[in-house]
Amino acid sequence: MLRYIFAILLASFATQIWAEGLPPVEEIALSKAPIDRSDMESIKRGAKLFATTCMSCHTMKYLRYNKIAQEAGITLDKMPINVTSWPYGVTPPDLSLEADVRGVDWIYTYLHSFYKDPARPTGVNNLLVPNTAMPGIVSAWQGDQVLETSKLDFGVINHTIYWYDLVSLKTDGSMKGGQFDDAITDLVNFLAYAAAPYHEEQQHIGWWVLGFLSIFIVLTFLLKKEYWKDVKKRRND
Ligand code: HEC
Repeated sequence: MLRYIFAILLASFATQIWAEGLPPVEEIALSKAPIDRSDMESIKRGAKLFATTCMSCHTMKYLRYNKIAQEAGITLDKMPINVTSWPYGVTPPDLSLEADVRGVDWIYTYLHSFYKDPARPTGVNNLLVPNTAMPGIVSAWQGDQVLETSKLDFGVINHTIYWYDLVSLKTDGSMKGGQFDDAITDLVNFLAYAAAPYHEEQQHIGWWVLGFLSIFIVLTFLLKKEYWKDVKKRRND
């Protein structure tokens, strides 16, 4: 009996992979987001992009009093807070803590892995969030990617699968060459900043704390020597 159940499970699993032509989401490796958290110019560019493109749908509630955010135009009155009915019935999530929730590499890969899918109401799909309700906002920048699972070499054992193993760019978008990668890097850098605005300051203070502790250790040691001098002297008397 158990053997049959196992066989059925295995068969349905296999047909799922082959029917959609896609490996399970967990098997797609994340690309490393090449961000530099100390690059304030990149963070500011990302904030601008967020304000002009992403904030028509996503809120950023926890960063509303931040100076950099305000300069970029990320203010509460411009956030879509009172929208009650979203197209496709999915409310776009607040992205204030997205970098903590998903991680920067996940976001970087997500924004790179939209592909054309006429079966979806938005006309696009995503490798990391199958049947995502987010429209192909970034496809206008990147160009249209199409799913090409024939690029996958299932014969190779332990081959790590990246998003670019599964899709190919078919038409140009408004951003050429590395421009798209740079724009996404800026956006992800900004999202990392939004989730931890004091990250750089904390690192900075951390070095001061370590410096203070090292001086403190030396002082404590000298003090100990001073006290023991008396103790030893009395012992010898
Ligand atoms: C037209 C509305 C719209 C715009 C504009 C938009 N998004 Fe989205 N986004 C969505 C929706 C809806 C979802 C939820 C998708 C789902 O769960 O199916 C989403 C999901 C996401 C997620 C994944 C959230 C998660 O953890 O599952 C990220 C990251 C994201 N968007 C980033 C962005 C960025 C960056 C921009 C700007 C370049 C942007 N979005 C622009 C509608 C939008």
